Amino acid sequence: MTYAAQDDAVGSVTARVPAKVNLQLSVGPLRDDGYHDLVTLFHAVSLFDEVTVTGAERTSVVVSGEGGPAVPLGPANLAVRAAAALARATGRRGKGAGGVKIEIRKRIPVAAGLAGGSADAAAALVACNELWRTGLSNAELSEIAAQVGSDVPFALIGGTAVGLGRGERLTRALVSGSYHWVLAFGATGLATPDVFAACDRLRAARVAKDGEAHAVPAPRLSNKLMAALRSGDPAAVGPLLTNDLQPAALSLQPLLRRALQAGKEHGALGAIVSGSGPTCAFLAADADAARDLAVAITGAGVCRAVVQVSGPAPGASVVESGALT
Ligand code: C5P
Repeated sequence: MTYAAQDDAVGSVTARVPAKVNLQLSVGPLRDDGYHDLVTLFHAVSLFDEVTVTGAERTSVVVSGEGGPAVPLGPANLAVRAAAALARATGRRGKGAGGVKIEIRKRIPVAAGLAGGSADAAAALVACNELWRTGLSNAELSEIAAQVGSDVPFALIGGTAVGLGRGERLTRALVSGSYHWVLAFGATGLATPDVFAACDRLRAARVAKDGEAHAVPAPRLSNKLMAALRSGDPAAVGPLLTNDLQPAALSLQPLLRRALQAGKEHGALGAIVSGSGPTCAFLAADADAARDLAVAITGAGVCRAVVQVSGPAPGASVVESGALT
């Protein structure tokens, strides 16, 4: 699909974008295309990256902040892919037509299960959309986002949303109140494909052990969790948090068990690996309880760093625009 874009836009646009945790992550069987069908409940939290795009002859990337040196600077960078996908879709062709300098200021750790790379892609999309004045609708941007990565469409909308398919088919979820979290970052990252592959291996091993074939059931949304979120009661939500990738993440990083245990011992209402990990997310009753929990988990020495966040947070949005035509 090709969309019309206004040419000759120069200037700079900055977008801010949140991290996510998964309140439910149910993983179906491996599909023929290498992905797994999911039912997930995405929840954006107040840990934000910022991406500034500036019109340039050639595309380049500069990354600073949390985990910056681990971020690829070439075509493997998801923000670069997002800008290129938008340029293609809007017909920006020819020398310099789709070039942007992309500056990423990271607070979301890399390979952490918080969709930081996907967040940067979403921010780049929103920022380039403004810079180039493409006038694309949210639905059109979401379609391009889904080509870049399964979690990118959610980073565009933020809030709390049910994700189906690869996670790219979204429906907003009704949630009352706000939720206070402590995120505990791991010492080393986990690559998402490795965690999904470990999940498949664990399932295959279980089948071999039981000596009979168990079809992986189709994932289903937890109605109990949805009702708890509507009630706005974190004490009801905490015990209902689930993540099918957690055993896989724990098999790859067994020390994460200690972090989860420490959170529970210090009063977390829910303790879960976030997405493909290794970040652990702990739900607290309120902001004060989250602060106490953050202090206790830091003191337990079970992780590299701890942050206190709240959700639902808004999706990718322009915070500064100097677009000129
Ligand atoms: O879509 P994205 O590029 O972010 O996915 C990264 C990897 O995570 C995929 O290549 C695949 O190995 C795994 N994945 C999956 N099923 C999904 C989403 C991601 O197996 N629904």
